[in-house]
Amino acid sequence: MCGIIGCVGRGEDTLSTLLHGLDQLEYRGYDSAGVALVGDGDLRVAKRAGKLDALKAVVGDRADLAGTVGIGHTRWSTHGPPTDGNAHPHCACAGRVAVVHNGIIENYQALRDELAADGHEFDSDTDTEVVPHLVEASLEAGRDPEAAFRDAVARLEGSFALACVVEGTEAVLVARNDSPLVLGVDDGATYLASDVPAFREFTARVVYLEDGEFARLSADGWHVADAEGTRLEKSVETVEWDAEDTGKSGYDHFMLKEIHEQPRALRQCLRGRVDELGGSVTLEELPELDLDRAHLVAAGTSYHAAIYGAELLCDVGVPATAFLSHEYATAPPPQEDATVIGVSQSGETADTLAATREARRRGAETLAITNTVGSTMARECDHVCYIRSGPEIGVAATKTFAGQQTALNLLCEYVSPGPIDRDLIAALRDLPSDVQAVLDGSDAEAVGEAYIDSDAYFFIGRALNYPVALEGALKMKEISYKHAEGFAAGELKHGTLALVTPETPVFASVIGDGELARKTVGNVKEVEARDAPVVAVTDGRSDVERYANHVLDIPETHPRAAAILANIQLQLVAYHTAAKLGRSIDKPRNLAKSVTVQ
Ligand code: AGP
Ligand code: GLU
Repeated sequence: MCGIIGCVGRGEDTLSTLLHGLDQLEYRGYDSAGVALVGDGDLRVAKRAGKLDALKAVVGDRADLAGTVGIGHTRWSTHGPPTDGNAHPHCACAGRVAVVHNGIIENYQALRDELAADGHEFDSDTDTEVVPHLVEASLEAGRDPEAAFRDAVARLEGSFALACVVEGTEAVLVARNDSPLVLGVDDGATYLASDVPAFREFTARVVYLEDGEFARLSADGWHVADAEGTRLEKSVETVEWDAEDTGKSGYDHFMLKEIHEQPRALRQCLRGRVDELGGSVTLEELPELDLDRAHLVAAGTSYHAAIYGAELLCDVGVPATAFLSHEYATAPPPQEDATVIGVSQSGETADTLAATREARRRGAETLAITNTVGSTMARECDHVCYIRSGPEIGVAATKTFAGQQTALNLLCEYVSPGPIDRDLIAALRDLPSDVQAVLDGSDAEAVGEAYIDSDAYFFIGRALNYPVALEGALKMKEISYKHAEGFAAGELKHGTLALVTPETPVFASVIGDGELARKTVGNVKEVEARDAPVVAVTDGRSDVERYANHVLDIPETHPRAAAILANIQLQLVAYHTAAKLGRSIDKPRNLAKSVTVQ
């Protein structure tokens, strides 16, 4: 997980540039943080357990902490608890080398034993610490810093984005394998980071590193090389969003800002892709795609979008199944020529990358549905469709879930063998304004307050509203820390009904007035008979309101769009519940935005 930042060429602003980058990256990990700077030949390190503010308090008292080259890290621990000693950067014995790392060194124990036998002393419980010691060993053998770093990396198995500084050398050395890393290039200064927002304020020009590549950043410029040190040609790309797209714009939390950005995000997703007059959907980036059968692979919120997408594809006659990517990677089902669709906001989720890589290894065609331009998944898959939601900083996925649902609707109509669904096209056209209507008129805050003392919440829905129930529960769990479960509405009576009491509110998404709605209303009556409070999320076409204690309205629309709107009401309930409880909404405990370990 973790966030890495580095910079060269920022002069006396080096430390503030690193701290700014860490601020932007704190969503990736936040159990400890640290920086290392090289200046006038000396290497200086500061690190602290806790959130970034703890590190800022320390660096504020350290007048010596200056330099013209630096690296920084915000950690989400995998090896060793979040203590000062386990925080990155990690140094070698003589204090000449400092390293920050994102990922897991799988063979660290063997390397550590070997290095310890050679007299190296270790200060931390981390896997990372073997890296500076390996670099040190190679330097002692007479190698120059760049070669010593390559030697060290050659010994590593596992996943890593690494940045290294060496005393006496005004350069940052970088390597990547299976963990994200991007360079930012500007006249006179160069940056590296796990994600572009870390340096977007300074430059929009980026170079994406591939697995197996190394880079060296110094006052003379930057270059990328392979494992033998041979220089590689890299293209410089320009990101299209501004630094202020990653600020809070007056909202209390990024999550609330991102919930309110949904009309704009969906407009961007739809722009230029739907021809309402001609009745067609075009995804220009997918000219070759021929979808006869699909396996959708994803984790967390993206898995809920995958369930939704599989149902849409089945509806238009394309057999499709959603799989948890971590299960798919290790126990893939027979592929039967299925195209494997990775659904991932970040495009960097290790579990989902493992699934798309396994699919590629077995010869399947792969498609990435992602928000992140230039992400590993986008680059590795045969095809990519961007959801265009803009940067999402809150750990809880909100606008990107709606973006994934919307993009999956577009994909579905694009590949549908049958005629286009004109009602859906009209509903997609109205979707951004319908989302705005939900945001403007929602009673979610009052609902959150009404049930603030409940210890458990249940969410139910059928068909397209089943993933809405799962997602409603996940949002509630991750940011309010309350127990919540989502169910297919028909499933509750097969066991979980035993837990339903007057203290357990049940949120039911009931859309339309057809058979699905009638059956879900039946399930609502079952919980109402057990005196459980009911919150109905509904377009008002069924009689569910008669059995509900609270109603969260959504506009009447196509059932596929309704499932997007219903979820937005549940996002708001989770947000207001967590806000009233004073939770750490944007950075919930134990979680991180981008899960780059398996
Ligand atoms: C949900 O709010 C989380 N952010 C999480 O479940 C997330 O959806 C999951 O980790 C997958 O991430 P991805 O979409 O970046 O692959
Ligand atoms: N494995 C390293 C540690 O525990 C880095 C963790 C990560 O990237 O998530 O410190």
